[in-house]
Parts: sequence; C-alpha cells; structure tokens
Amino acid sequence: MHQIDKAVTLLKAGEVVGMPTETVYGLGASIDSQAGISKIFELKERPFFDPLIVHVRNAQQARTLVKDWNPIAQALAEHFWPGPLTLVCEKADSLNPMITAGLERVGIRCPSHPIALELIEKLGSPIAAPSANKFKKTSPTRREHVLKELGEEVFVLEGGNCEVGIESTVAGIFEDRVEIYRPGKITARDIKEVLKQNDLDINVEHTQSPVAPGQLKHHYMPDIPVILAWDMNEEQIRNKMASSREIAKITSRANVWVLKDDPATAARMLYQHFRHCQESAFSCIVIGIFTAYRQQEDWLGILNRLDKAKTLEIFP
Ligand code: TXA
Ligand code: MG
Repeated sequence: MHQIDKAVTLLKAGEVVGMPTETVYGLGASIDSQAGISKIFELKERPFFDPLIVHVRNAQQARTLVKDWNPIAQALAEHFWPGPLTLVCEKADSLNPMITAGLERVGIRCPSHPIALELIEKLGSPIAAPSANKFKKTSPTRREHVLKELGEEVFVLEGGNCEVGIESTVAGIFEDRVEIYRPGKITARDIKEVLKQNDLDINVEHTQSPVAPGQLKHHYMPDIPVILAWDMNEEQIRNKMASSREIAKITSRANVWVLKDDPATAARMLYQHFRHCQESAFSCIVIGIFTAYRQQEDWLGILNRLDKAKTLEIFP
C-alpha cells in the first residue's frame, strides 16, 4: 500500500501517525477522533494544558474551525500559506476542546510539505499535530528522529529533512492587533509588511502571553547541557571554558559551534546538531552566539529556542 494511504487508514481508525512538515515532524491525529487525540498526549507525555495546532489543507478549511475568520487572518493566510505560520483564532463550538486544552482559541496552520498536504487532502479532515517529540524535548527534523524518540511501532511517513528546521511562528489574531507568541521563520516584520499591503494598519507585537501555556521556560532540551557562549569566536570560547574550574567539569568533551552562518541555515541545522551531539558522546553542546542578533528579526526564532534549551551562559 502507498505510505499515504496506509497513514489515512490508520488515522481513520483512531491511530496516530508521524508526518513530515516543512518545519519539524508532527505527530498527527484526525480532529474527529477522540481516541487519536488522546493518544497524542499519551505518547508525547504531554500535559493536557498544552494546546495542539490543527493542520489544514487551505484557508477555506481553516474557516470551518473558527468563529472569527477576520480580514487579518485572511490576508495572512493568503500570503503565507502553505507555510510556517500558525494563526490563533476564536474556535468554533464544534471543535473538540481537548485540542485547544480548554481554551476558547485554536491554533491553525497549513503546512507546505507536499506529503502533509496530501495526507490532509486524502483524509478529508484537518489533522491535529504537535511536534513529534517527548514533552519539552527537541523537535524531530528527520523520520529516524521520530522513531527513536517515540518508538519503532509508531507509523511515520518518510518526508526527508525538514526544510525550515524550527517550529512555525505562532500569531494570535484579534480584531485590532496581532500578537506573536512564538517567533519563527516568518517574522513580525514580514507580517507587518503583508498587512500594510492589504491596507490593514495593525499593531504586531511580541508577547509572552498567558494564553500560550505551551510556552514554558524550559523546552526544546537535548539530553546533554546546552551552553550559550556570547560574543566570542571558537578559540575564545575554548579558552574561557578551560579557565573556569566549575565549567571545565562539564565542558571536557564539548562540541562548539559558533552561529555565524545565515539564520536560515542555522535554523535548519540546529535540532539536527543537538541530536548529533547527544548521540556522539559529547559532554555538552556549546553554541556561540552574538548579542547583535537580538536586534535582527531573522534570528529571533533561533534565539527563542536557544533561550529555552540552555542550561547556562558564558560571556567574554
Ligand atoms: O511548526 C510547527 O508548528 C509544528 C509542526 C508539526 O506543525 N508544530 C508544533 O506544535 O510545534 P507544538 O505542539 O509542539 O507547539 C504548539 C504550540 C503550543 O505549545 C502553544 O504554545 C501554541 O503552539 N499554541 C497552540 N494552540 C494555541 C492556542 N490555542 N493558543 C495559544 N497558543 C497556542
Ligand atoms: Mg513542540
């Protein structure tokens, strides 16, 4: 049987399926299956207060899930979908409240990976899917990662390496504003630009919103410590580590990677790098990073993930 047909059969039977998206691999269930939705939380060991993102085929399907598909949502969907942008809107009454963790609002996105799109199309209904990792751990960007993380018995569609590499931008959509809860490849600047083109004079702000309960302080964590090293080259980092007896204890077999590439490459490599390091018997992962990046929108998604994955920071 073709792998997508098999996945559709499983989803219809209330099972979960690993699926590639352009950001990271997701663990999907049909939004119509209570059994499937429950299995997502079980397998991920995810608390029920953390809402799931619903993946749709297009904006038209998104409309069936919400009460308030406003011109802002329409403009952003038209421009950025299929793509790595999740829109959080007021949910329709009919949507299973377990998906939204009891919240009145639902996160929706249309992924651009052809396999994800075909799967949603063939299933004929949207798919709820968080990233396919254990709660708080690093998101998978290859099929093997999912199998390793969740077990060989999970059916996972093969879709190659994820192109983007970090999770989608999550944006709360209101009548008068847009709030960014999780930065990603699509930046606040990109969003503002598109709203402007559509004559929507709307504020776009980053918020640490209480309505995004999944945004815990620690998240995306590999099994070994992540150390952020600010404003140093590799040699300076190694000298710095050697000079502190306390740090030297955990950095004896450190992997050091200074992020001086462009942000798109850094994002694509980041989680793969975490996994490579923890599997290669390094004692810790040291990421070299620069304070100037905080002023550059394209780095904010990566900085956000690093801030949540880090164990400690070192400075010149
Ligand atoms: O790129 C992605 O978004 C990937 C792929 C698989 O699509 N999915 C993903 O899902 O990262 P997950 O569950 O790991 O992260 C979703 C986060 C939640 O933890 C929460 O912070 C936010 O999105 N979110 C989802 N629904 C929300 C809601 N109704 N209100 C506020 N935040 C929400
Ligand atoms: Mg996740």
